[in-house]
Amino acid sequence: MQKTTRRGIAAYGLALLAAPRLALGQGAAFPSRPITMVIPFAPGGPTDIVGRLMAEAMTKEIGQPVVVENTTGAGGTLGAQRVATARPDGYTVLLHHIGMGVIPTMYRRLSYDPVNGFEPLGLVTEVPMTLVTRKDIPANNLAELVAYMKAQGDRFNLADAGIGSSSALCGALLANAIGVKPTVIPFRGTGPAMQEILGGRVDLLCDQTTQTTEYIRAGQVKVFATPSRHRIATLPEIPTTTEAGLPGFEVTVWHGLYAPRGTPAPVCARLTQSLQAALREPRIVQRFAEIGTAPVSQADATPEAHRRFWTADIAKWKPVIEATASFAD
Ligand code: MLT
Repeated sequence: MQKTTRRGIAAYGLALLAAPRLALGQGAAFPSRPITMVIPFAPGGPTDIVGRLMAEAMTKEIGQPVVVENTTGAGGTLGAQRVATARPDGYTVLLHHIGMGVIPTMYRRLSYDPVNGFEPLGLVTEVPMTLVTRKDIPANNLAELVAYMKAQGDRFNLADAGIGSSSALCGALLANAIGVKPTVIPFRGTGPAMQEILGGRVDLLCDQTTQTTEYIRAGQVKVFATPSRHRIATLPEIPTTTEAGLPGFEVTVWHGLYAPRGTPAPVCARLTQSLQAALREPRIVQRFAEIGTAPVSQADATPEAHRRFWTADIAKWKPVIEATASFAD
């Protein structure tokens, strides 16, 4: 039998101390505390709705609370900056949308790297948009709305969530297609913007079905078209903008999950695993369907597919943004 020496005991103790660190290095011990999911827009809006559903489902799967933090302002760039500059340990993640595809071109000056500052973890969903107005707008179809907007000039106002948001992208492309310059009223998200539409204080909002479905069904807003290639399965009565006589632009809002650049690969893999499990959850599938969307396929909920899609989206929007004067920052 080997004689136990003091040096042997010390070496054994050191090995024990090293074990948890090794496990953490391999990703096995992650996560050991709550994870913050940053949503770059206001509570109650479309990104928040998707993000909170995902946070709830990921919490169940990953065994630690995934808590939502709304870091709002500057068209979603402040929330993105918060995550790009966070410690890359997997405890701060970002749920962002199409803004990740347009911000690199729209903003010339940012205090974070809008492309290389992140590790994409997987796509989440794609959401159609709808053009909605206050209920008492004197127009009953898109042609009448266009005529009204032209007649009103800058007395017509349009809400959005700031340059970099999907509502701003869609609103600017709409104004461009019509050839009008409405007054733009920016909010920290379309959640608060929708309250102004419901209150009749703002005229138009281009927003995602994840928020608008409820108000369209309740007749609390007027809906004119969807800027999508196809009609929305859950709201089939709404024409596409092309069908309604305004071709030339399409916006669909994709969402993805990100970690800060430099997050260890095993930690990213664990987050992707949790994202994929959440997207398979029956409650997510059902709730997404009720608000006009669906989870992406498991093949698209991967870092590789996410990076490919994101890179292609930046390239797709670059010429469109450069040709649209109202996007200058
Ligand atoms: C939100 O969550 O408020 C919207 O997604 C912002 C936007 O218009 O893109």
